[in-house]
Amino acid sequence: MIDEWLLARYPRTPGVRINFVTSVDGAAAVDGLSTALSSPADKEVFRLLRMTCDALLVGAGTFRQEAYRPLTLDAARREWRVGAGLSAYPRLVVFSNRLDLDPGHPALASAPVRPLIVTRAAPAGHPLAGVADLVGTEEPVAALRQLGLTHLLCEGGPGLTGWLTARDEVDEVCLTLAPLLAGPGAPRLVTGQQHAARGLRLVHALPAEGALLLRYRRSR
Ligand SMILES: NC(=O)c1ccc[n+]([C@@H]2O[C@H](COP(=O)([O-])OP(=O)(O)OC[C@H]3O[C@@H](n4cnc5c(N)ncnc54)[C@H](OP(=O)(O)O)[C@@H]3O)[C@@H](O)[C@H]2O)c1
Repeated sequence: MIDEWLLARYPRTPGVRINFVTSVDGAAAVDGLSTALSSPADKEVFRLLRMTCDALLVGAGTFRQEAYRPLTLDAARREWRVGAGLSAYPRLVVFSNRLDLDPGHPALASAPVRPLIVTRAAPAGHPLAGVADLVGTEEPVAALRQLGLTHLLCEGGPGLTGWLTARDEVDEVCLTLAPLLAGPGAPRLVTGQQHAARGLRLVHALPAEGALLLRYRRSR
């Protein structure tokens, strides 16, 4: 069932939307995974945001590390999408320059829609071309827009969110703060190159079972 109240707080919105969960002390992972940070409320937001996007962006690090599963949406969410004039499933877009990804990975090989792999330069005849469209570009967001993918949901990880933030391509951050002090060592929401601070405007802060569901928009 779709939580209409929550959906009204996370409407389908054009641009680049990051969805992320961190501990109260800012850790993006515990023992290398985000699983321990998640909660039923966070998962509900996760499902809603997947339902409303055109494409789901993920960095190769997360794809390799998190046992990323083929994109699924239950019947009610697929119905919602079709009713909204969208395809039944969003398109998976994996970001990778090294292209060190297994073409047999279920999230690629068993994807409901042929995925895209965004890379700086797409070599001809790469084995990944058997399971995905390789897009060679230095301007991924513009390239995706040209393909009609205008509502982009980025599920991380910090390398990809850092790259998007450095380029000032982020329009929205949906952040769940998990009630946990994870301790030092884990990456934050972003890693990568230094850049000027980016201002955000708070849209909402919803308490949910001890977690806090935060929605911020980029103020330009
Ligand atoms: N808390 C959360 O919500 C959350 C969400 C996601 C992940 N995580 C955690 O984050 C950790 C993984 O972090 P990470 O920084 O390694 O992951 P990542 O951002 O998923 O992956 C980084 C990789 O993505 C590729 N990449 C990034 N920007 C690119 C660009 N502009 N063009 C082409 N490729 C690009 C590169 O892949 P190649 O090396 O293949 O070139 C890069 O090494 C894991 O511990 C995971 O659990 C947490």
